[in-house]
Amino acid sequence: MRKINIAILGCGIVGTGVAKLLMDKQKVLESKIGASLNLKYVADLDTQTDRGIKFREGVFISDAAKAIDDPEIDIVVELIGGKNVAKDFILRALKNGKHVVTANKALIAEYGNTIVRTAATNSVDFAFEASVGGCMPVIKTIRESLVANRINSITGILNGTCNYILTKISQEGCPFDVALKEAQAKGYAEADPFLDIEGHDSAHKLSIVTALAYGMEINIKDIHVEGISRITPMDIEFAREFGYTIKLLAISKNNTDKVEARVHPTMIPTTHPLAHVHGSMNAVTINADATGETMLYGAGAGMMPTASAVLSDITDIARNIMVSSQNETSSATSRRRVPILGFQDSNITQIPIMPVTEINTCYYIRLAAVDRPGVLSKITGILGDRSISIQSVHQKGRRYNGPVSIVMITHVAIEKDVQLALKEIANLDVIPEEPVVIRIEDDITA
Ligand code: HSE
Repeated sequence: MRKINIAILGCGIVGTGVAKLLMDKQKVLESKIGASLNLKYVADLDTQTDRGIKFREGVFISDAAKAIDDPEIDIVVELIGGKNVAKDFILRALKNGKHVVTANKALIAEYGNTIVRTAATNSVDFAFEASVGGCMPVIKTIRESLVANRINSITGILNGTCNYILTKISQEGCPFDVALKEAQAKGYAEADPFLDIEGHDSAHKLSIVTALAYGMEINIKDIHVEGISRITPMDIEFAREFGYTIKLLAISKNNTDKVEARVHPTMIPTTHPLAHVHGSMNAVTINADATGETMLYGAGAGMMPTASAVLSDITDIARNIMVSSQNETSSATSRRRVPILGFQDSNITQIPIMPVTEINTCYYIRLAAVDRPGVLSKITGILGDRSISIQSVHQKGRRYNGPVSIVMITHVAIEKDVQLALKEIANLDVIPEEPVVIRIEDDITA
């Protein structure tokens, strides 16, 4: 049986999971691929820590270059994480004619366009299903299953750590730091959890699916990003009273000549399926013209779910290698059968991402205001001057001359107007604290 040689770079949580799956599922994978997947190397600087795997002699090495430069290696699987070393290794592997699989969303977000071009120049594949949504097949759904659609919007919970924290706070009243520590202990969080809680991990993933959906280059720098560190139990409670749940959403909308792409805490109706995605689970809804609404749900983080997605890419490439090698005598090849970013390279354009100030949505605004006659009319006057119409206002508590919470829900307004109004409101001497603003998505379709 044809042997396809694989090198894993990085034996952390996901690398260990991939090595385990390759070894444990060898027989079933052979029966599905028609070739045997041979784990020739696992390279990691730390070869001492026990990973609970019995590697064959010579497999577990510390020198990644040995694996990347070995002419027998067909597929390099980069699971080191981080940007610099991982980027150098990936580019070197592609230039050596190896197909590359990675789960490294931060790297793709920043250097994906260069990597895609390098893969094209060297006629090899670059696959990254595990980079978005853990085991949920988001990449292949957008790129392959929905190929005949115009994608209108993508809305997702794409960070397991944040979803875990928000769930623990809202369901159990768990303090933020305790919930974060638990997410870290379960292996959901990034090495630097700042990337999770400040929304950057979700933005990395959003930049990838946005490019795939609309045929544009990967653009991380113009995505508006806010994390969950300013969300308080009080806002979660108020949201509940208004019939909303707070989720960290990654939102992308296709406005044809411009794209909306933003990550921020969002209030969604408690009746929406995304509001019922709890713990570290991820989910994404994709609105497209032929299909209407499609929703995917699955484990967004963790060793084996992520490893499962990596194996799906390895399998795709191995199957392509098999078809190509069966056609050796003809010119047929199935290398790069599916374009890496879904569209043929020459059809990938640079569609601009709208500044967040241009978006239209409803807003939840919470103010700490001195409880005195005339204060509310001052606030609503400022909002009215900027054409911001209010759906409902609630005052919580009564404390003469002390600050009380005023909570407002607006009708659809332009973000720029809301930002300017809030700046003015924050400057009033009756407003002792910075206002809290959370965007509302009442209708999660385009
Ligand atoms: N830190 C990520 C998360 C891991 O929490 O979702 C999966 O990408």
